[in-house]
This record gives sequence, C-alpha cells and structure tokens, in this order.
Amino acid sequence: MRKIAFFDTKPYDRTFFDIYGKNYEIKYFENKLNADTATLAAGFDGVVAFVNDDLSGETINKLYEGGVRVLALRSAGFNNVDFRAAFEKITVVRVPAYSPHAVAEHAMALLLALNRKIHKAYNRTREFDFRLSGLTGFDLYGKTIGIIGTGKIGRIFADICKGFSMKILASDPYPAKDSGLEYVSVDRILAESDIISLHCPLTEDTYHLIDSAAVFAMKSGVYIINTSRGQLIDSAALLSALKSGKIGGAALDVYEEEAEFFFEDFSQSIVKDDVLSLLVSMPNVIVTSHQAFLTREALDSIASTTIKNLDEFFSGDKLTNEICYQCKTGDVGTKCEKRAAGERCF
Ligand code: NAI
Repeated sequence: MRKIAFFDTKPYDRTFFDIYGKNYEIKYFENKLNADTATLAAGFDGVVAFVNDDLSGETINKLYEGGVRVLALRSAGFNNVDFRAAFEKITVVRVPAYSPHAVAEHAMALLLALNRKIHKAYNRTREFDFRLSGLTGFDLYGKTIGIIGTGKIGRIFADICKGFSMKILASDPYPAKDSGLEYVSVDRILAESDIISLHCPLTEDTYHLIDSAAVFAMKSGVYIINTSRGQLIDSAALLSALKSGKIGGAALDVYEEEAEFFFEDFSQSIVKDDVLSLLVSMPNVIVTSHQAFLTREALDSIASTTIKNLDEFFSGDKLTNEICYQCKTGDVGTKCEKRAAGERCF
C-alpha cells in the first residue's frame, strides 16, 4: 500500500478522505507543512497539502530527499508552491474545481452580512438589544459591482449578482466570450464600482492588486469583498482606507498573513499581528477564516479528486490535474503543448 502524509488536517477533512482513501495508508498530521515539518513525510510516497502549507524550495527538497514523489494539493490555488524546485523531482497535482458555488455563495453571504450588518444585529439581539440605530444598509438592486476575475467562481458570483439586478462590470485578461458580461479595464472598475469582489488568482501580476493607488482611484465608501487570496490586497493600505472612510467596508475570507493564524484557535492568546487585530475590531469589517470552500459538497469533491489524482500518478496514467510547469495553468489545451498531447510535464 502506498503511504500518504496529509498535512494541516482537521476532523472535517478526514471524514471524506477516510471514505475515498481506503487503498492508501494515510497518516494525518495537524501540522502545517513547511521546511521544518517536511521531515515528518520521510518514507512516504506522497503528501497532500493545503492552502497555508509552505511549499518553498527548501520544503520541496526535503520532501524529495525523504522519498516523496507526488504533491497533491487539496486546493485550486497553487501560489504556495515553488515549481522550479519541484520540476523533475515532485509531480504537483491539484483540485482545479471542487465547488465554485461554495466560494461564490460565501462571497455573496459576506456582502449581504456586511451591508445589512447581520453580524452586528446578531450580537445585539443575543443581548436583547433590539435597537436599529447603526444598522442601515443599502439596496443591492441597481448598484454597480466590479468583479475582478471571471473564471469558474467569478462567473457564478456574477450570476448571483444578476439575481439581485446589480450592474456588473468585469475584468479578466481572458474574457469569457459567452458570458454576456461587460468587460472593462480595472481602472473603470475602480472608478465606478460600489462594491468590488476579487476572484482572480494570486500571481506576480495580481500581488497587491488593491494597493493605495488603487484605493485612491475608487469611489468613496466602496465595499471590498475578497474570497480569493489575501495577498491580492495590501492590508496596510486597506486598513488606512477603512480608517479614513474611503473604503466603507470589507469582507475578507483571506488575509495576507493568514498562514500564521487561520484554522487555529487564538481566542486565549494575544494576536501579535496589529493589522489583523485592527481589521477584526472594526465594525465594518467581517473576517472569516478561509472558509468559503467549506461545504459538504466541496469536501466530498476535494477528497474524491485528490484520491483520483493520486491513483493516476501511481498507476502511471495521464494526469488530469497536473499543474503545468511551463505555463502554470494546469488546464489542458490552453497553452501547453505537452499537456494538450496528454503527456505529463516530466
Ligand atoms: P479560475 O482559474 O477558474 O479563474 C480565475 C480567473 O482569473 C481566470 O479567468 C483568469 O483569467 C483570471 N485572472 C487571472 N489574472 C487576472 C488578473 N490580473 N485580473 C483579472 N482576472 C485575472 O479560478 P477559480 O476557480 O474561479 O478560483 C479563483 C480563485 O479563488 C483561486 O485562484 C483561489 O485563489 C480562490 N479560491 C478561494 C477559495 C476559498 O476558500 N476562499 C477556494 C477556492 C478558490
């Protein structure tokens, strides 16, 4: 039986992996995977990692030295992997789509909660405080929402927004021609949107897409929704714009420095990240702990696809979900000739 080490796992992960992973000898580690913990995987054939694992060159090399030959990400995003280090050593596979609906629906849940102050109302009524002052929101109907990134999640989110009769402006270097969406420049999105929702991946181009210059170009009082990756937003710029009122509210499922905190309980500690502490303390900010994916359907799909990825790797089959080292899309037929021909990257 092949041995697989799972990192950064919680009980809700195990439920579905126990069902699909019966043909593997699985060891679950609660630890995040990084250069220090990589040695725990010595003697394993493969590792399964998640969004906040640190798959730097040092980690990859230690995994390789320990005998690991496949890294199965149980996520869609892969910005945490050093592909140069992995090339010709460790094959990297991912789960490209598990439930785009889960993430898109969470983005709308965040927007509705932020706008209609559900988080404030919930706390008040629990204390039998039934006042309405400070709870005024606005109609989403007719408001302009800027959607940056219209892949699987962004498009579903756009469909949800259409249900609210919102005006949608979209931005994507690869516009979806069949979407009927109005594609405009990022500059126009910044200038005209009442709400901006981020659905693009984290790349060199999108790092700090929302910085102080972008904030300057926005409408006053704009709401920002980020369910994509924390580093799309310069958190210091966000904080200062929230303080000045330029940004009217933010709902964040991801945070630049989340790897240190998310998925763990710090309720009995002093959190030493001042930016995070200030963001969490603001009445017009909602932070969720990278939970947009967390539905039963998504967990089931993540487990079944991850195990299928491992089955394909160990049986020598074509890898449906290998991430392409040349173009880093992982999507068959887009740019990479090898993958289009059904070959592995190496
Ligand atoms: P996708 O690959 O289907 O779509 C991403 C889209 O972003 C593509 O259409 C791409 O062309 C576009 N894009 C790339 N660079 C851009 C740029 N500079 N400006 C605007 N658009 C750009 O990915 P999917 O499945 O829609 O996921 C989007 C992101 O959501 C992932 O990269 C991941 O970071 C995040 N995510 C977050 C989850 C959570 O639990 N919070 C769960 C799953 C994904």
